[in-house]
Amino acid sequence: MKVIELNHPLIEHKLSILRDKHTGTKEFRELIQEISMFLCYEAMKDVKLESVEIETPITKIKSGKLNEDCYAFVPILRAGLGMLDGVISVIPNAKIGHIGMYRDEETFEPVNYFFKVPKDIEHREVIILDPMLATGGSAIDAIELLKSKGVKKIKFLCIIAAPEGILAVEEKHPDVQIFCAKIDSHLNENKYIVPGLGDAGDRIFGTK
Ligand code: PRP
Ligand code: URA
Repeated sequence: MKVIELNHPLIEHKLSILRDKHTGTKEFRELIQEISMFLCYEAMKDVKLESVEIETPITKIKSGKLNEDCYAFVPILRAGLGMLDGVISVIPNAKIGHIGMYRDEETFEPVNYFFKVPKDIEHREVIILDPMLATGGSAIDAIELLKSKGVKKIKFLCIIAAPEGILAVEEKHPDVQIFCAKIDSHLNENKYIVPGLGDAGDRIFGTK
């Protein structure tokens, strides 16, 4: 499935501020939320709306409405939490699950430490949130956990994706569509995205 990259000068403008190492926590968080909101609009382009009758101050019309009960957001902790407010502003009634995952600093392999999703998750389209798709290990494991719960339709939203991570996810889960604000150049020897924005979790939560 083709990766969708937001291609817009204002997104590039916001990414330039986000990437800048001098950008502080407050602005960093706000930009992650704002870009996530646009990613969510893009990811929802294919949704089917229900036709309902509404009455404007002028006349009655048939108009499309989203059944918000069909969706769940699942941020990958910690950094995915930074995207949550942005996407909730688009679909306020979506349910929310959480997957706790961190990357082992030596092996770069993901370690899962928490998994809690809505009971009826198998009936929902799931939108996974994580700002960074680096090796793809965390995304692949998160998708596997959700599929093991019976989830059939999954989308993956990230701010920055590395080509290596995209390839890895596409190979294991070709049915999962990836949406990103930007595809970057490559991973460095520490598996950080180049040019990237550094450690997203640390910058969102101010832990370093
Ligand atoms: C980061 C990021 C992803 C993961 C991406 O999380 O938020 O979850 O690394 O790397 P991968 O594609 O190689 O798996 P991190 O392990 O830093 O945890 P944190 O969100 O708690 O900071
Ligand atoms: N996780 C991050 O937060 N940043 C990277 O560049 C890679 C993984």
